[in-house]
Amino acid sequence: MEKQSKPDGRKTLVLTGASRGIGHAAVRRFSSEGWRVLTLSRQPFDDNCPWPEGAANHVQVDLGDADSLGLAVADIRARLEEDGGYLHALVNNAGISPKLDGGRRPNSIDTPMQVWRQVFQVNFFAPLLLARGLFEELNAAQGAIVNVTSIAGVRVHPFAGSAYATSKAALASLTREMAADFGPHGIRVNAIAPGEIETSILSPGTEGMIKDIPLRRLGDTKEVADTIYYLCSDAASYVNGAEVHVNGGQHV
Ligand SMILES: NC(=O)c1ccc[n+]([C@@H]2O[C@H](COP(=O)([O-])OP(=O)(O)OC[C@H]3O[C@@H](n4cnc5c(N)ncnc54)[C@H](OP(=O)(O)O)[C@@H]3O)[C@@H](O)[C@H]2O)c1
Repeated sequence: MEKQSKPDGRKTLVLTGASRGIGHAAVRRFSSEGWRVLTLSRQPFDDNCPWPEGAANHVQVDLGDADSLGLAVADIRARLEEDGGYLHALVNNAGISPKLDGGRRPNSIDTPMQVWRQVFQVNFFAPLLLARGLFEELNAAQGAIVNVTSIAGVRVHPFAGSAYATSKAALASLTREMAADFGPHGIRVNAIAPGEIETSILSPGTEGMIKDIPLRRLGDTKEVADTIYYLCSDAASYVNGAEVHVNGGQHV
């Protein structure tokens, strides 16, 4: 199927977790390239944000609530219909990494079961439900999906808890499954796995890890957004089922 876009050639992105951190940097990057960006997060749109049409393109939803997410998918589909029903990219970026009292790392013994369920709902099931719910529009545009995983998905991390780490490992596996299932429909599915990126999700003490990162520094949100953009662009037209490390070599 040939790639489709609106008559004015403008592309559309659906992005979760756009209100700060990596997601915020992604809004900047895609907007600067002329994309329409539909944003999803729990907070209402911040009027201090300068994006034109930002408020009109924001969907306030708690991804941890499966019923609300179903309503949000219907809302997004209606908004995409205004532009002909094309979706060029879905970026599943929102994620949570809960801590125990005092900021302690929750491990596989002491993480409460409701926390496991909440983490998997936001970090794993929401990406799946969004991808399935928006399949028709992604198919129409021959679009791309990027799932944001983590270095914690492949090794025990000093701060990220067990529920977070296993949800990201599951999301990486899901990326592989989706690449096989969505690929024949012309939809590419990839992941990016950030290391230590300067955002509010980082724990105090992360600076101590810098000595073990080959590039000897934390990553910047813009560097992650640039990789996400690449995977959604035509420059990556034969990249499918990849998980790209964005971690300064921390994985080696
Ligand atoms: N920063 C790092 O070093 C790092 C490393 C590895 C992986 N990652 C991954 O990269 C992604 C972005 O991380 P970040 O550091 O930019 O995170 P962040 O600064 O904590 O931002 C998280 C975003 O997710 C949204 N969000 C959280 N829970 C939500 C929910 N239930 N429903 C809807 N939106 C929700 C937040 O918006 P609201 O609060 O408005 O809902 C916010 O926009 C995450 O998946 C994270 O696991 C980050």
